[in-house]
Amino acid sequence: MSVVLRPIALSDADALHALFTEPGVRQYLFDEILLMREESRKHVEAALMHGAWVVELDGLIAGFTSLRPVGPDRELMIAVSERCWGRGVGFDAGRAALRHGFEVLKLDRILAGVDLPNERSHRLMARLGLCPTGETDGPKYRATTYEVSAAAWSTSSRRW
Ligand SMILES: CC(C)(COP(=O)(O)OP(=O)(O)OC[C@H]1O[C@@H](n2cnc3c(N)ncnc32)[C@H](O)[C@@H]1OP(=O)(O)O)[C@@H](O)C(=O)NCCC(=O)NCCS
Repeated sequence: MSVVLRPIALSDADALHALFTEPGVRQYLFDEILLMREESRKHVEAALMHGAWVVELDGLIAGFTSLRPVGPDRELMIAVSERCWGRGVGFDAGRAALRHGFEVLKLDRILAGVDLPNERSHRLMARLGLCPTGETDGPKYRATTYEVSAAAWSTSSRRW
């Protein structure tokens, strides 16, 4: 299995629309809302402005990950196509995005937010070394907030 991250391009909009509208992906990522193609394109256009990558597995688009600006911070987001779940793609994508955030962007910390019922994602955050910091209200679900500091990441084997 070979997982590769490459910066997203506008030409990925249709493939990412297919990803964003998968039932298992939109359930928590978009609060179950079925995006229209134009709305997906707007997400892609916004993501072009900051760090965002298409995740390719054996040459095919398998997911998306980004470090979205939130105030002065960046928030890690990962989405993997349901057909590729359970093969380590989410972990590899998250690890590469964290590495970019700390080594290239020189961030002091990276945040994440995970809806309370999204158990797969809570387990992934823990494997990536993010620690829960509290809870917050979301449009549909309450969410756990997560954080990993550069110092914690630099001493963690997870960066490899
Ligand atoms: C959450 C999400 C990103 C996880 O992606 P994923 O590619 O399935 O993640 P991984 O494969 O790394 O880990 C999933 C499970 O597979 C297991 N796994 C990893 N590699 C494996 C392998 N080679 N063989 C068998 N199992 C494996 C992991 O241990 C993990 O098990 P667990 O859930 O019991 O802890 C994915 O489910 C998703 O996109 N969900 C919808 C969007 C979303 O909610 N995103 C989160 C918001 S940030």
